[in-house]
Amino acid sequence: MKGLVFTELLAMAENAIGEDAVDDMLDRLTLASDGAYSAVGNYPCSELVQIVGAVSDHTGLSGEALQKMFGAWMFDRFVQGYPQFFDGKSNALEMLDAIENEVHVEVRKLYPDAELPRFDTEWLTGDKMRMTYRSERPLVAFCHGLIEACVAHFEQDGTVFKLPDATANKAAFEISLTAA
Ligand code: HEM
Repeated sequence: MKGLVFTELLAMAENAIGEDAVDDMLDRLTLASDGAYSAVGNYPCSELVQIVGAVSDHTGLSGEALQKMFGAWMFDRFVQGYPQFFDGKSNALEMLDAIENEVHVEVRKLYPDAELPRFDTEWLTGDKMRMTYRSERPLVAFCHGLIEACVAHFEQDGTVFKLPDATANKAAFEISLTAA
């Protein structure tokens, strides 16, 4: 998993609980990286899960809630860092439909070692889509946060519903937009 993901997770945590609390938390964890992440390095996803667990212990927020918050945080970073991917997309469903075959394709060119999920999308109607996430990493809630942030970004009312048969590594989301 790219170091960028870790530096952003720690930035979010510092924003929420302060730098000293994050430093203490990292000192208490046994991390192969020692908690020193470079944006261009690669680190095991298990360290991300450990850090989320420690922030959860500190704040009382569930790991799921924190992963969702982190999804929203990363989405803002993507909008700022890669505005070109959002150009020409008229709504959240078009954007989400482009992640697998456009956005993450470009990410793979930029970072050949990126560890990305797989998405299948199916249009159920003109304003409703099912997006199925599959990954070797247990980041369903992170993905949920990204999808919700994507809907909010396009400023059109909509709902994101996670189907109940989700597992740690696979989930289907139904995203519906309501007429503006
Ligand atoms: C709302 C749209 C998006 C969704 C739902 C999405 C989903 C995800 C998820 C769930 C992951 C974690 C890896 C995994 O679960 O296996 C991921 C990783 C990543 N995504 Fe996306 N993504 C979105 C938009 C973007 C955009 C716009 C960019 C822009 C560059 C981007 C770049 C990346 C990068 C760099 C990683 C990390 C890869 C690694 O750690 O090796 N994504 N994405």
